Amino acid sequence: MIRLAVELPGGRSYPVLVGPGVVGELASVVPAGVRRVAVVTQESVPVEVDPGVEHRVFRIGDGETAKSLATVEELCSAFAGWGLTRADAVVGVGGGVVTDVAGFAAASYHRGLPVVHVATTLLAQIDAAIGGKTGVNLPEGKNLVGAFWQPAAVLCDTTVLETLPEREMACGLGEMAKYHFLGGGDLGGGGPDGGGPGVDHHQGPTLEQRVAMCVRIKAEVVAADEREAGRRAVLNYGHTLGHALETTGRYDLRHGEAVAVGLVYAAELALSLGRIDDGRVAEHRRVVAGYGLSGSLPAGADADGLMLAMGRDKKAIDGLTFVLDGPAGVEVVTGVDAELVRAAIGAVR
Ligand code: GLY
Repeated sequence: MIRLAVELPGGRSYPVLVGPGVVGELASVVPAGVRRVAVVTQESVPVEVDPGVEHRVFRIGDGETAKSLATVEELCSAFAGWGLTRADAVVGVGGGVVTDVAGFAAASYHRGLPVVHVATTLLAQIDAAIGGKTGVNLPEGKNLVGAFWQPAAVLCDTTVLETLPEREMACGLGEMAKYHFLGGGDLGGGGPDGGGPGVDHHQGPTLEQRVAMCVRIKAEVVAADEREAGRRAVLNYGHTLGHALETTGRYDLRHGEAVAVGLVYAAELALSLGRIDDGRVAEHRRVVAGYGLSGSLPAGADADGLMLAMGRDKKAIDGLTFVLDGPAGVEVVTGVDAELVRAAIGAVR
Protein backbone atom coordinates (compact mmCIF):
# COMPACT_ATOMS: atom_id res chain seq x y z
CA MET A 1 0.00 0.00 0.00
CA ILE A 2 1.23 3.50 -0.85
CA ARG A 3 0.15 6.28 1.48
CA LEU A 4 0.11 9.82 0.13
CA ALA A 5 -1.23 13.08 1.47
CA VAL A 6 -2.93 16.06 -0.11
CA GLU A 7 -1.56 19.04 1.81
CA LEU A 8 -3.75 22.13 1.72
CA PRO A 9 -3.35 25.71 2.91
CA GLY A 10 -4.02 26.28 6.58
CA GLY A 11 -2.38 23.04 7.63
CA ARG A 12 -5.27 20.93 6.36
CA SER A 13 -4.40 17.59 4.81
CA TYR A 14 -5.95 14.25 3.99
CA PRO A 15 -4.59 10.81 3.19
CA VAL A 16 -4.88 8.99 -0.13
CA LEU A 17 -4.25 5.25 0.16
CA VAL A 18 -3.35 3.41 -3.05
CA GLY A 19 -2.98 -0.32 -3.54
CA PRO A 20 -4.63 -3.71 -3.70
CA GLY A 21 -7.26 -4.21 -1.02
CA VAL A 22 -7.14 -0.70 0.47
CA VAL A 23 -10.95 -0.66 0.55
CA GLY A 24 -10.44 -2.69 3.73
CA GLU A 25 -8.90 0.42 5.33
CA LEU A 26 -12.16 2.36 5.20
CA ALA A 27 -12.99 2.11 8.90
CA SER A 28 -9.55 3.50 9.76
CA VAL A 29 -10.03 6.65 7.64
CA VAL A 30 -13.61 7.51 8.61
CA PRO A 31 -13.15 10.55 10.88
CA ALA A 32 -13.03 9.74 14.57
CA GLY A 33 -16.33 10.24 16.37
CA VAL A 34 -18.53 9.75 13.30
CA ARG A 35 -21.60 7.85 14.46
CA ARG A 36 -23.25 6.81 11.20
CA VAL A 37 -22.29 6.70 7.55
CA ALA A 38 -24.42 7.18 4.43
CA VAL A 39 -22.80 5.08 1.71
CA VAL A 40 -23.60 6.54 -1.72
CA THR A 41 -23.05 4.22 -4.67
CA GLN A 42 -24.62 2.80 -7.84
CA GLU A 43 -26.14 -0.57 -8.69
CA SER A 44 -23.33 -1.19 -11.19
CA VAL A 45 -20.48 -0.69 -8.69
CA PRO A 46 -19.29 -4.13 -7.58
CA VAL A 47 -17.66 -2.99 -4.34
CA GLU A 48 -18.94 -3.50 -0.82
CA VAL A 49 -17.58 -1.44 2.02
CA ASP A 50 -17.54 -1.56 5.79
CA PRO A 51 -17.14 1.88 7.35
CA GLY A 52 -16.92 0.30 10.81
CA VAL A 53 -20.00 2.13 12.16
CA GLU A 54 -23.73 1.90 11.55
CA HIS A 55 -24.37 2.59 7.87
CA ARG A 56 -27.01 2.57 5.18
CA VAL A 57 -26.54 2.29 1.41
CA PHE A 58 -28.10 4.92 -0.90
CA ARG A 59 -27.99 4.11 -4.62
CA ILE A 60 -28.08 6.76 -7.33
CA GLY A 61 -28.69 6.13 -11.05
CA ASP A 62 -26.01 5.03 -13.48
CA GLY A 63 -24.44 7.30 -16.07
CA GLU A 64 -23.85 11.01 -16.51
CA THR A 65 -27.60 11.78 -16.38
CA ALA A 66 -27.54 10.88 -12.66
CA LYS A 67 -25.24 13.88 -12.11
CA SER A 68 -28.17 16.22 -11.56
CA LEU A 69 -29.65 18.50 -8.92
CA ALA A 70 -32.62 16.12 -8.82
CA THR A 71 -30.32 13.30 -7.70
CA VAL A 72 -28.78 15.51 -5.00
CA GLU A 73 -32.28 16.49 -3.80
CA GLU A 74 -33.39 12.85 -3.64
CA LEU A 75 -30.22 11.90 -1.83
CA CYS A 76 -30.48 14.71 0.73
CA SER A 77 -34.17 13.87 1.32
CA ALA A 78 -33.21 10.27 1.92
CA PHE A 79 -30.44 11.42 4.33
CA ALA A 80 -33.02 13.53 6.18
CA GLY A 81 -35.47 10.62 6.23
CA TRP A 82 -32.82 8.50 7.91
CA GLY A 83 -32.01 11.35 10.30
CA LEU A 84 -28.40 11.91 9.20
CA THR A 85 -26.77 14.64 11.30
CA ARG A 86 -23.55 16.62 11.44
CA ALA A 87 -22.14 13.93 13.69
CA ASP A 88 -22.29 11.58 10.70
CA ALA A 89 -20.47 11.24 7.37
CA VAL A 90 -20.92 10.33 3.72
CA VAL A 91 -18.86 7.71 1.88
CA GLY A 92 -18.98 7.77 -1.94
CA VAL A 93 -18.18 4.43 -3.55
CA GLY A 94 -17.81 4.58 -7.32
CA GLY A 95 -16.40 6.51 -10.25
CA GLY A 96 -16.50 10.21 -11.02
CA VAL A 97 -20.30 10.46 -11.13
CA VAL A 98 -20.57 9.07 -7.59
CA THR A 99 -17.71 11.09 -6.13
CA ASP A 100 -19.08 14.32 -7.70
CA VAL A 101 -22.66 13.71 -6.51
CA ALA A 102 -21.81 12.26 -3.09
CA GLY A 103 -19.26 15.03 -2.56
CA PHE A 104 -21.75 17.76 -3.48
CA ALA A 105 -24.49 16.22 -1.32
CA ALA A 106 -22.00 16.03 1.57
CA ALA A 107 -20.97 19.67 0.97
CA SER A 108 -24.59 20.84 0.98
CA TYR A 109 -26.48 18.65 3.46
CA HIS A 110 -26.65 20.44 6.83
CA ARG A 111 -24.09 22.82 5.26
CA GLY A 112 -21.42 20.18 5.20
CA LEU A 113 -20.63 16.67 6.38
CA PRO A 114 -17.29 14.91 6.04
CA VAL A 115 -16.99 12.75 2.93
CA VAL A 116 -14.64 9.86 2.18
CA HIS A 117 -14.24 8.70 -1.42
CA VAL A 118 -13.70 5.06 -2.34
CA ALA A 119 -12.73 5.53 -5.98
CA THR A 120 -13.51 2.46 -8.06
CA THR A 121 -12.45 3.57 -11.55
CA LEU A 122 -9.00 4.55 -12.80
CA LEU A 123 -10.36 7.95 -13.79
CA ALA A 124 -11.72 8.61 -10.30
CA GLN A 125 -8.54 7.34 -8.63
CA ILE A 126 -6.18 9.60 -10.54
CA ASP A 127 -8.46 12.59 -11.03
CA ALA A 128 -12.10 12.95 -9.96
CA ALA A 129 -11.82 11.81 -6.34
CA ILE A 130 -8.72 13.89 -5.59
CA GLY A 131 -8.82 17.63 -5.02
CA GLY A 132 -12.31 18.40 -3.75
CA LYS A 133 -14.18 19.32 -6.93
CA THR A 134 -17.81 18.22 -6.55
CA GLY A 135 -20.87 19.09 -8.57
CA VAL A 136 -23.59 18.25 -11.02
CA ASN A 137 -24.64 19.11 -14.56
CA LEU A 138 -27.43 21.41 -15.72
CA PRO A 139 -29.28 21.03 -19.03
CA GLU A 140 -27.15 24.04 -20.07
CA GLY A 141 -23.81 22.33 -19.50
CA LYS A 142 -21.56 20.01 -17.53
CA ASN A 143 -20.44 20.71 -13.96
CA LEU A 144 -22.16 24.11 -13.82
CA VAL A 145 -23.26 23.77 -10.17
CA GLY A 146 -20.89 22.53 -7.51
CA ALA A 147 -18.60 23.26 -4.62
CA PHE A 148 -15.03 22.71 -3.55
CA TRP A 149 -15.38 20.20 -0.73
CA GLN A 150 -12.24 18.33 0.19
CA PRO A 151 -12.69 14.72 1.28
CA ALA A 152 -11.48 13.46 4.64
CA ALA A 153 -9.67 10.63 2.84
CA VAL A 154 -9.55 8.85 -0.52
CA LEU A 155 -9.09 5.12 -1.08
CA CYS A 156 -7.78 3.94 -4.47
CA ASP A 157 -8.08 0.15 -4.48
CA THR A 158 -6.20 -1.14 -7.51
CA THR A 159 -7.69 -4.64 -7.23
CA VAL A 160 -11.06 -3.15 -8.11
CA LEU A 161 -9.61 -1.94 -11.43
CA GLU A 162 -9.10 -5.54 -12.59
CA THR A 163 -12.83 -5.84 -13.24
CA LEU A 164 -13.21 -2.53 -15.08
CA PRO A 165 -14.65 -2.79 -18.59
CA GLU A 166 -12.02 -2.10 -21.26
CA ARG A 167 -13.46 1.24 -22.34
CA GLU A 168 -13.77 2.40 -18.74
CA MET A 169 -10.08 1.61 -18.31
CA ALA A 170 -9.30 3.48 -21.56
CA CYS A 171 -11.10 6.44 -20.06
CA GLY A 172 -8.63 6.51 -17.15
CA LEU A 173 -5.65 5.88 -19.39
CA GLY A 174 -6.36 9.08 -21.33
CA GLU A 175 -6.07 11.00 -18.07
CA MET A 176 -2.97 9.04 -17.12
CA ALA A 177 -1.36 10.01 -20.45
CA LYS A 178 -1.94 13.65 -19.49
CA TYR A 179 0.22 13.33 -16.37
CA HIS A 180 3.27 12.46 -18.50
CA PHE A 181 3.32 16.13 -19.50
CA LEU A 182 2.62 17.52 -16.03
CA GLY A 183 5.81 16.29 -14.47
CA GLY A 184 5.12 12.57 -14.74
CA GLY A 185 7.70 11.91 -17.43
CA ASP A 186 8.86 8.89 -15.44
CA LEU A 187 5.40 7.25 -15.45
CA GLY A 188 6.89 4.47 -17.50
CA GLY A 189 4.10 3.14 -19.70
CA GLY A 190 3.20 4.75 -23.00
CA GLY A 191 6.70 6.08 -23.53
CA PRO A 192 9.24 5.05 -26.15
CA ASP A 193 9.56 1.68 -24.43
CA GLY A 194 5.92 1.08 -25.29
CA GLY A 195 3.12 -0.53 -23.38
CA GLY A 196 0.67 1.00 -20.97
CA PRO A 197 -0.77 -0.50 -17.80
CA GLY A 198 -2.11 -3.95 -18.49
CA VAL A 199 0.56 -4.72 -21.09
CA ASP A 200 2.15 -7.90 -19.82
CA HIS A 201 5.67 -7.44 -21.16
CA HIS A 202 6.01 -4.05 -19.53
CA GLN A 203 8.84 -3.91 -17.00
CA GLY A 204 8.09 -0.44 -15.65
CA PRO A 205 6.18 0.68 -12.59
CA THR A 206 3.20 -1.33 -11.40
CA LEU A 207 -0.32 0.01 -11.78
CA GLU A 208 -0.32 0.81 -8.07
CA GLN A 209 2.85 2.90 -8.50
CA ARG A 210 1.47 4.66 -11.56
CA VAL A 211 -1.78 5.56 -9.83
CA ALA A 212 0.27 6.87 -6.91
CA MET A 213 2.48 8.95 -9.25
CA CYS A 214 -0.58 10.56 -10.83
CA VAL A 215 -2.14 11.21 -7.40
CA ARG A 216 1.11 12.81 -6.25
CA ILE A 217 1.18 15.17 -9.25
CA LYS A 218 -2.47 16.08 -8.79
CA ALA A 219 -1.97 16.59 -5.05
CA GLU A 220 0.91 19.01 -5.71
CA VAL A 221 -1.15 21.04 -8.19
CA VAL A 222 -4.16 21.15 -5.84
CA ALA A 223 -1.94 22.12 -2.90
CA ALA A 224 -0.62 25.08 -4.91
CA ASP A 225 -4.05 26.24 -6.12
CA GLU A 226 -6.93 24.60 -4.30
CA ARG A 227 -9.70 26.71 -5.88
CA GLU A 228 -8.36 27.01 -9.42
CA ALA A 229 -7.31 30.63 -9.29
CA GLY A 230 -4.61 29.79 -11.82
CA ARG A 231 -2.25 26.85 -11.92
CA ARG A 232 -4.87 24.15 -11.28
CA ALA A 233 -6.14 24.75 -14.81
CA VAL A 234 -3.10 22.78 -16.08
CA LEU A 235 -5.04 19.67 -15.01
CA ASN A 236 -7.23 20.45 -18.00
CA TYR A 237 -4.36 19.73 -20.39
CA GLY A 238 -5.85 18.06 -23.47
CA HIS A 239 -9.38 18.90 -22.32
CA THR A 240 -10.29 21.87 -24.55
CA LEU A 241 -10.62 19.81 -27.71
CA GLY A 242 -11.52 16.79 -25.56
CA HIS A 243 -14.54 18.57 -24.05
CA ALA A 244 -15.50 19.94 -27.47
CA LEU A 245 -15.56 16.40 -28.84
CA GLU A 246 -17.70 15.30 -25.91
CA THR A 247 -20.12 18.23 -25.83
CA THR A 248 -21.00 18.08 -29.51
CA GLY A 249 -22.33 14.62 -28.59
CA ARG A 250 -21.76 13.44 -32.14
CA TYR A 251 -18.87 11.09 -31.54
CA ASP A 252 -18.73 7.80 -29.71
CA LEU A 253 -15.85 8.81 -27.45
CA ARG A 254 -15.42 8.32 -23.71
CA HIS A 255 -13.86 11.17 -21.72
CA GLY A 256 -10.34 9.75 -21.65
CA GLU A 257 -10.47 8.83 -25.33
CA ALA A 258 -11.44 12.42 -26.13
CA VAL A 259 -8.66 13.76 -23.88
CA ALA A 260 -6.13 11.55 -25.71
CA VAL A 261 -7.00 13.23 -29.02
CA GLY A 262 -6.98 16.55 -27.19
CA LEU A 263 -3.41 15.98 -25.96
CA VAL A 264 -2.08 15.42 -29.47
CA TYR A 265 -4.13 18.36 -30.71
CA ALA A 266 -2.72 20.62 -27.99
CA ALA A 267 0.79 19.54 -28.99
CA GLU A 268 0.14 20.35 -32.67
CA LEU A 269 -1.28 23.73 -31.69
CA ALA A 270 1.73 24.45 -29.44
CA LEU A 271 4.02 23.50 -32.35
CA SER A 272 2.27 25.96 -34.67
CA LEU A 273 2.72 28.67 -32.02
CA GLY A 274 6.45 27.88 -31.84
CA ARG A 275 6.16 26.77 -28.21
CA ILE A 276 7.46 23.21 -28.71
CA ASP A 277 9.31 21.32 -31.45
CA ASP A 278 8.49 18.32 -33.65
CA GLY A 279 10.19 15.94 -31.23
CA ARG A 280 7.88 16.96 -28.40
CA VAL A 281 4.81 16.50 -30.64
CA ALA A 282 6.09 13.03 -31.54
CA GLU A 283 6.43 12.32 -27.82
CA HIS A 284 2.74 13.19 -27.31
CA ARG A 285 1.77 10.86 -30.14
CA ARG A 286 3.97 8.09 -28.70
CA VAL A 287 2.61 8.39 -25.17
CA VAL A 288 -1.00 8.36 -26.34
CA ALA A 289 -0.41 5.41 -28.68
CA GLY A 290 1.48 3.62 -25.91
CA TYR A 291 -1.74 3.58 -23.90
CA GLY A 292 -3.54 2.03 -26.87
CA LEU A 293 -5.44 5.25 -27.52
CA SER A 294 -5.98 7.13 -30.76
CA GLY A 295 -4.52 10.60 -31.19
CA SER A 296 -6.67 11.29 -34.26
CA LEU A 297 -10.12 12.77 -34.64
CA PRO A 298 -13.01 10.42 -35.30
CA ALA A 299 -13.79 10.07 -39.01
CA GLY A 300 -15.86 12.94 -40.37
CA ALA A 301 -15.23 15.24 -37.39
CA ASP A 302 -16.75 18.65 -38.07
CA ALA A 303 -14.22 21.49 -37.69
CA ASP A 304 -16.89 24.23 -37.48
CA GLY A 305 -18.70 22.46 -34.64
CA LEU A 306 -15.45 21.91 -32.76
CA MET A 307 -14.40 25.56 -33.21
CA LEU A 308 -17.76 26.69 -31.80
CA ALA A 309 -17.52 24.34 -28.81
CA MET A 310 -13.91 25.38 -28.06
CA GLY A 311 -14.98 29.04 -28.13
CA ARG A 312 -17.52 28.24 -25.40
CA ASP A 313 -14.98 26.56 -23.12
CA LYS A 314 -15.20 27.74 -19.50
CA LYS A 315 -11.56 28.95 -19.70
CA ALA A 316 -12.30 31.09 -22.76
CA ILE A 317 -12.86 34.44 -21.04
CA ASP A 318 -10.17 36.20 -23.05
CA GLY A 319 -10.51 34.82 -26.58
CA LEU A 320 -9.74 31.20 -27.52
CA THR A 321 -7.93 29.77 -24.51
CA PHE A 322 -5.90 26.58 -24.26
CA VAL A 323 -3.65 24.76 -21.85
CA LEU A 324 -0.45 24.35 -23.85
CA ASP A 325 3.01 22.91 -23.44
CA GLY A 326 5.95 25.26 -23.89
CA PRO A 327 9.43 26.21 -22.71
CA ALA A 328 8.10 26.87 -19.19
CA GLY A 329 6.04 23.68 -19.16
CA VAL A 330 2.28 23.34 -19.45
CA GLU A 331 0.38 26.60 -18.85
CA VAL A 332 -2.78 28.50 -19.78
CA VAL A 333 -2.48 30.52 -23.00
CA THR A 334 -5.18 33.07 -23.87
CA GLY A 335 -6.09 34.82 -27.11
CA VAL A 336 -4.91 32.04 -29.42
CA ASP A 337 -5.29 32.89 -33.13
CA ALA A 338 -8.45 31.22 -34.50
CA GLU A 339 -6.75 30.36 -37.80
CA LEU A 340 -4.05 28.36 -35.97
CA VAL A 341 -6.71 26.67 -33.85
CA ARG A 342 -8.52 25.60 -37.01
CA ALA A 343 -5.33 24.54 -38.79
CA ALA A 344 -4.34 22.32 -35.86
CA ILE A 345 -7.65 20.46 -36.27
CA GLY A 346 -6.36 19.44 -39.70
CA ALA A 347 -3.15 18.13 -38.11
CA VAL A 348 -5.04 15.55 -36.04
CA ARG A 349 -7.27 14.18 -38.79
N1 GLY B 1 -10.16 17.52 -12.93
C1 GLY B 1 -9.53 18.77 -12.84
C2 GLY B 1 -9.37 19.27 -11.44
O1 GLY B 1 -9.62 18.56 -10.52
O2 GLY B 1 -9.00 20.40 -11.27
